Amino acid sequence: MRLIVPLRGVVQGRGGLFVGSLIPCCLFYFLQLYLKRRSPPDPPPSDSHLGELPRTSSLSNLFSRGSSMGRVRISARAVPVAKPTDSTYYIGLERVKTDPYDRISNKEGIIQLGLAESTLCFDLLQRWMSENLMESMMMQSDGNGEFDISSIAMYQPFEGLLELRVAFAGFMSRIMGGNVTFDPANMVITAGGTPAIEVLAFCLADHGNALLIPSPYYPGFDRDIKFRTGVELIPVHCRSSDNFTVTVSALEQALNQARKRGFKVSGILFSNPSNPVGNIVSRETLNDILRFAQEKNLHVISDEIFAGSVYGDKAFVSMAEVASSGEFDKSRVHVIYGLSKDLSIPGFRAGVIYSFHEDVVNAAKKLMRFSSVPVPVQRILISLLSDARFIEEYMAAHRGRIRDKHARFVEGLRGLGIPCAESCGGLYCWVDMRSLLTCYSEKGEVDLFEKLLSVAKINATPGTACYCIEPGWFRCCFTALADEDIPVVMERIRRLAESSR
Ligand SMILES: Cc1ncc(COP(=O)(O)O)c(C=O)c1O
Repeated sequence: MRLIVPLRGVVQGRGGLFVGSLIPCCLFYFLQLYLKRRSPPDPPPSDSHLGELPRTSSLSNLFSRGSSMGRVRISARAVPVAKPTDSTYYIGLERVKTDPYDRISNKEGIIQLGLAESTLCFDLLQRWMSENLMESMMMQSDGNGEFDISSIAMYQPFEGLLELRVAFAGFMSRIMGGNVTFDPANMVITAGGTPAIEVLAFCLADHGNALLIPSPYYPGFDRDIKFRTGVELIPVHCRSSDNFTVTVSALEQALNQARKRGFKVSGILFSNPSNPVGNIVSRETLNDILRFAQEKNLHVISDEIFAGSVYGDKAFVSMAEVASSGEFDKSRVHVIYGLSKDLSIPGFRAGVIYSFHEDVVNAAKKLMRFSSVPVPVQRILISLLSDARFIEEYMAAHRGRIRDKHARFVEGLRGLGIPCAESCGGLYCWVDMRSLLTCYSEKGEVDLFEKLLSVAKINATPGTACYCIEPGWFRCCFTALADEDIPVVMERIRRLAESSR
């Protein structure tokens, strides 16, 4: 009998079979023994319950250690997501985590100016939450006046409870000046602004298609749009000479270039008020954008997550209002909103897709199955948004306190000879640090970012992270700073400026 045995080649007869099987087994056994000896001893279990690994995982450890199968592979999609990022936006955020500033316990730590979050009205939120949180979650009662557990424990519509969509519609209309109404039927509740952006990108563009985006833009858009949908972003460069406002000619140029490069452009995405500049898109510009989109058959996504964080004398106009004027085909218009900024509750993960396109609304409703807002949170939000007295008090304080903080911050910078772009919305300002650059280039800007982080111990987001074409601009978020911290920031920048002269 001729038999082919791995490692032994061809062997003859029964004896051959025996020898041919035994020898490879022995070799394999000794190989395992050799590898086990060479590998470092297992670390002691750090937690008692980890000591007893399930059998399957112990076995898999044994095999993966000794076998020549190589590293366990993950999908090609996930590989770039898992890799450390080279964006200075995320690098800065990570560095702050290693040494965060605290006025009392870590005075020399890094001051966070890189995250658009606000603590300015936490006193009001704290009061409302402590008075209403439990009650609003347990609001629904059964026939006997008892709390009805089924109202929060059972499956509910993934696009959000109707009462919440009604409450959001009222709230959005109110903070957007009362000139626009929102139909709850066109609304899908999302777990924050981030999934709203991603779901819209998924619904409006195919993998490999592109969206035009006026730059500088919010660095998180790269993650939100590109990570999972494979949709590309093409910056439409705006300039300081126009206070970074987008123009139709810049859109036209970017569209032509993108098409020459082989991209199918599906739409235009922008934030209004702009993140990072903080300026508001005027009604005229909104009309221009929509006219351009209609002419070129593009979608328009308007991210209005900072609509209620406007503090200047210019009025905010929603793209939903412009779309409803009757002049345009509004089915190409989609609005993003959320409570992370205007109500300062990013932890609640509450956002909205508002679309005039029926199919987009229907698709988004189904996609919300993957990441809907928990029903107890929805119940709290219904109470919060429907509390007209609180909302009025809160919004007035929110706007007033941002205005004051902005004035102090910008004044401090001006005292150092550092100007800011004109802004009247958002939780940040767009700072012109060109005078601090040692060379006027992208590298010069990244060097300054590094010096701000390591020497001045300040994390500010450099313009390169926002695809700004002009070096030297930085986004500084100021709404999580206490008044006492502003002089500390200014003193640190002053010392840095002096040392680099
Ligand atoms: C313009 C813009 N859109 C969306 C988001 C994301 O919002 P959320 O934190 O609710 O996901 C942010 C967050 O900073 C933002 O600045």
